[in-house]
Amino acid sequence: MASFFQKLAKAAPIAFTQAYRGQSKSASANFRFPIGAIAAVSGGISYIYYYSSSKVVYLDEASEDSGPPMALNPNKWIEFKLQDKAQVSHNTQLFRFSFDPSVKLGLDIASCLLTRAPIGEDAEGKKKYVVRPYTPISDPDAKGYFDLMIKVYPEGKMSQHFAKLKPGDVLEVKGPIEKLRYSPNMKKHIGMIAGGSGITPMLQIIEAIVKNPDDNTKVSLIYANVSPDDILLKKKLDVLAASHPNVTVYYTVDNPTNDWVGGKGYISKDMVVKGLPAPGDDTLILVCGPPGMMELVSGNKAKDYSQGEVSGLLKDVGYTESMVYKF
Ligand SMILES: Cc1cc2nc3c(=O)[nH]c(=O)nc-3n(C[C@H](O)[C@H](O)[C@H](O)COP(=O)(O)OP(=O)(O)OC[C@H]3O[C@@H](n4cnc5c(N)ncnc54)[C@H](O)[C@@H]3O)c2cc1C
Ligand SMILES: *[C@@H]1O[C@H](CO)[C@@H](O)[C@H](O)[C@H]1NC(C)=O
Repeated sequence: MASFFQKLAKAAPIAFTQAYRGQSKSASANFRFPIGAIAAVSGGISYIYYYSSSKVVYLDEASEDSGPPMALNPNKWIEFKLQDKAQVSHNTQLFRFSFDPSVKLGLDIASCLLTRAPIGEDAEGKKKYVVRPYTPISDPDAKGYFDLMIKVYPEGKMSQHFAKLKPGDVLEVKGPIEKLRYSPNMKKHIGMIAGGSGITPMLQIIEAIVKNPDDNTKVSLIYANVSPDDILLKKKLDVLAASHPNVTVYYTVDNPTNDWVGGKGYISKDMVVKGLPAPGDDTLILVCGPPGMMELVSGNKAKDYSQGEVSGLLKDVGYTESMVYKF
């Protein structure tokens, strides 16, 4: 079972299918139901790192009662068991969490979920938590598991917590939080600019497009990284592009190797003009990456986490607020 997951980390596309089969076969033996709600929200959140007030969407009660059961609950922290983890690059790991193999995670494209981990107590002796959002990259229709790809920062509070998790350990998760409501064919052509672990929401959307035979959306992705070694799931992206003529991927790296054939340096106006769909009503450009890249490309989101104005390269090329979405 571990080897399927290792292949996924190396991103051979077949690994997704195999991992899925492996999962359903072994799930009954390994499965333990998530231990349910932990002391709800009342006590502890010291602060919410990311909170997009207008975008928080709760599953309506009716669908929760009458629809198919979902593993996630937007109102409760639920424990999920780490099934397996694998190294994707020198600083990034893939984590597979398992749950009831008869249910789906319960998330629409494009959404993230919240994780929390205890970090000591406050002055009154209440538990303090660090809370961070992450974007599942597994198929939301998969039953019994979800995958997170996480960059581990040397001093990162939550990512260090992840790095220390061992198979069998549990993680507290709440959600989903909907970011952008994607619907098939909502735009003719979607351009994407991602940096580093900012690839995760793009993967969620690309997978949704290519798995739906009725979705004709074209996708053009520019993926920026420090060096070729930092490119996450490159094999997977290459196979997606090779097997779907409407999906193209252009890589650029700050520190190219001698044999590097992709783009060199930061994302440029030239890359945007040549690599992305031109500004227009049928175009949407999605941007996700570290603050420096966001500043250069589109401007960061506003302080209140609203979209803010479009600036940077995208503004220079003529994209307006309605054509750009910042994750
Ligand atoms: C909607 C959304 C989805 C996301 N999805 C993903 C995903 O799928 N995968 C992923 O890897 N990440 C994702 N992120 C980012 C993630 O939520 C965290 O921000 C990230 O993992 C860092 O959290 P941390 O607690 O490990 O690091 P933090 O403790 O927040 O620190 C982050 C970095 O800043 C440095 N730092 C901390 N404090 C300071 C300081 N005072 N001065 C200077 N440097 C400092 C740390 O050393 C570290 O390098 C997403 C973010 C958002 C908003
Ligand atoms: C690719 O895009 C074209 C429109 O540019 C569309 O007609 C066609 O159906 C798409 N193909 C797929 C496989 O989605």
